[in-house]
Amino acid sequence: MKMKAGHSQQQPVVVILIVNLCFNASCQLSEQQVCKLCTGLVLKDSAVAHFCSLSAGQIDGRCCRRNDNTTDPEHIIGLDLSNCSLTHVEDLHEASTALMIDLSLNPAVNISDTAFQGFTELNYMILPGDIICPGGNISWSKVEVNAGNRICEGQKNMCNQTGQLSMTCPENSLCAPYGPGFFECSCADNYHGYKCLRKGEFPAVQVFGPLGASTVMISFLLWVTQRRKAKSL
Ligand SMILES: *[C@@H]1O[C@H](CO)[C@@H](O)[C@H](O)[C@H]1NC(C)=O
Ligand SMILES: *[C@@H]1O[C@H](CO)[C@@H](O)[C@H](O)[C@H]1NC(C)=O
Ligand SMILES: *[C@@H]1O[C@H](CO)[C@@H](O)[C@H](O)[C@H]1NC(C)=O
Ligand SMILES: *[C@@H]1O[C@H](CO)[C@@H](O)[C@H](O)[C@H]1NC(C)=O
Ligand SMILES: *[C@@H]1O[C@H](CO)[C@@H](O)[C@H](O)[C@H]1NC(C)=O
Repeated sequence: MKMKAGHSQQQPVVVILIVNLCFNASCQLSEQQVCKLCTGLVLKDSAVAHFCSLSAGQIDGRCCRRNDNTTDPEHIIGLDLSNCSLTHVEDLHEASTALMIDLSLNPAVNISDTAFQGFTELNYMILPGDIICPGGNISWSKVEVNAGNRICEGQKNMCNQTGQLSMTCPENSLCAPYGPGFFECSCADNYHGYKCLRKGEFPAVQVFGPLGASTVMISFLLWVTQRRKAKSL
């Protein structure tokens, strides 16, 4: 495991990633496209609609948004993409503040391993029955199949799991959850003299996950000089 990867060597990767993100949607097309990924509104009587009204949120297309008086005015707390004829899910980044996501009734949906990276609030997912929960069962407190849907409930914190292949943060860094099956390690202040951030993919995704069942563990390291990801608290 490479822990102290050269800083100058890694930086281009980060820059490319950021450029990619911009081209892909989040920067230029800042309107929340994820809410318009399919027509109509959050389906009446759906779990997201119910959750939204309980949370005093507002329906906008397929999203439920709420204003928490933070700098981020109206963030997405729920996303209902059920029955949208989705075939693949790669970038739902705009909805990374969501607590609930419904992807049910989408036949043959192919979900990228990293689609929910950074979704730290996500606590309830409804998926087609044949799709496993992101990060695998190990990443959730409760997984059940009910009426043809898979329900993933209660995101687990990967930082203090016991009895797993131990993949802990390097010395002098702190571990924080980074979405189902993911954790991030951020360097303690003054370590190396600059702030750094490493995003690690929990081995469960690679070793026990459905897609990466027998693949060799790939370690996914990113170092950035600044940790600036507006987190609305
Ligand atoms: C948020 O704003 C609303 C009205 O704008 C106010 O009633 C509420 O107390 C505020 N909540 C917090 C936590 O500041
Ligand atoms: C799914 O969408 C189709 C076509 O848009 C519609 O006919 C069907 O009733 C919907 N199913 C559910 C369960 O909402
Ligand atoms: C899902 O997508 C991945 C990557 O794009 C591809 O390798 C895989 O074959 C797809 N799986 C299915 C069932 O379409
Ligand atoms: C995950 O949990 C579901 C529901 O409890 C179960 O059916 C499935 O076999 C589990 N998958 C694995 C790989 O353990
Ligand atoms: C993991 O952290 C949670 C929240 O801080 C705590 O409740 C739980 O007891 C911890 N588990 C272990 C195994 O340390």
